[in-house]
Amino acid sequence: MSAFEKIKERDQKFFMNTYSPADIAFVSGEGCYLTDSEGKRYLDFLAGIAVNALGYNHPVFTDALTEQAHKVAVISNYFYSEPRGLMAEELMRGTHLNKAFFGNSGAEANECAIKLARKYFYVRGEKRYKIVSALHSFHGRTLATVTATGQGQYNKPFSPLPAGIGEYVPFNDIAALEKALSDPEVAAFLVEPIQGESGVVPATKEYLKAARELTEKYGELLIFDEVQSGAGRTGTFWAFEGYGVKPDIVTAAKGIGAGIPVSACMATDEVASAYKPGDHGTTFGANLLSCAVGYAVCKKIREPGFMDAVREKGEYLKAALATIKSPYIKDIRGVGLFVGMEMESEEIANKIYKAMLDAGFVLNVAGHKVMRFVPPLIITKEQIDTMITELKKVVESL
Ligand SMILES: Cc1ncc(COP(=O)(O)O)c(C=O)c1O
Repeated sequence: MSAFEKIKERDQKFFMNTYSPADIAFVSGEGCYLTDSEGKRYLDFLAGIAVNALGYNHPVFTDALTEQAHKVAVISNYFYSEPRGLMAEELMRGTHLNKAFFGNSGAEANECAIKLARKYFYVRGEKRYKIVSALHSFHGRTLATVTATGQGQYNKPFSPLPAGIGEYVPFNDIAALEKALSDPEVAAFLVEPIQGESGVVPATKEYLKAARELTEKYGELLIFDEVQSGAGRTGTFWAFEGYGVKPDIVTAAKGIGAGIPVSACMATDEVASAYKPGDHGTTFGANLLSCAVGYAVCKKIREPGFMDAVREKGEYLKAALATIKSPYIKDIRGVGLFVGMEMESEEIANKIYKAMLDAGFVLNVAGHKVMRFVPPLIITKEQIDTMITELKKVVESL
């Protein structure tokens, strides 16, 4: 039995069957490369789904983690800690946001945002509780966030779903949004600036600007889910900065920890003030390990030139993808290193995914037929070239 077969056998016996993994077990990584249990190396364009912003074994990550591990990892939120404040300050630096809450996953950040929006109107004595979200959105797997997720296959089996969540509007449709937001019971519009899981679909500038104007017009809150688009992935620290729109609440996870589980729900002072001690909490949220690592990672991403390079490499990647000539390619789109290449069908996309994996390149398929490229932000142009050379071969031989 190979090392992989042993890993797989145990996993299938003891791990709940909620995923369908490829027949690979990664055991280590270095830079933008991963190594599997049989010693094969892969160039990684998935980064744990837009998580590993600094790749693998990066000294900023490992030093912060080990230094903090030698001190103390968890103290509970009954006490103050320096990493918690440092991380919060770093995340919101230069923005209009003032207060952060830390959780452990993107879903928890959105759960926190939904509760905050409801509490905001509760303390004002206004009967506003509905959360409007977009079709084809993805916001997480807790009951509230999977209900906000505008893809029925994820939430239908878990009915009855929480009331007041799950009114969906077509993405990038301003007229439909106005109709939904004119309901006086709406508390907030929750939206991804760039829909990730449904295939890297950026919102238009006009749409997000209209979302801001309409939520203001009707007295509602605007929540941006930046779980996938945040932490420099689009070439600005937050995608909302690139769009020039200021939401009341922003949620984040994935890249802000570059591999350590940490998420954030951030809000303006005015909105955040609705929460009082006892309203929200989580044991592992704001643990010192996550905050110390997240702080170091975010500081690194904010270093001069880092995000300029993300923008430049993103354009380079899109231009390189455009050199692949194939009738099966329907669209190439994205912002920064958050890029999608839409294929003609799910079958074609899956073929490419498998062939690339065999050749030692990790990407994935989002939204059924979109090849998603969300590499570590430290990917080089040479590594992009290496991947494109293989992808060209694969796509042109379909
Ligand atoms: C935009 C968005 N929001 C929320 C989530 C849920 O995050 P998590 O899986 O960390 O709970 C995801 C995960 O892919 C996401 O892409």
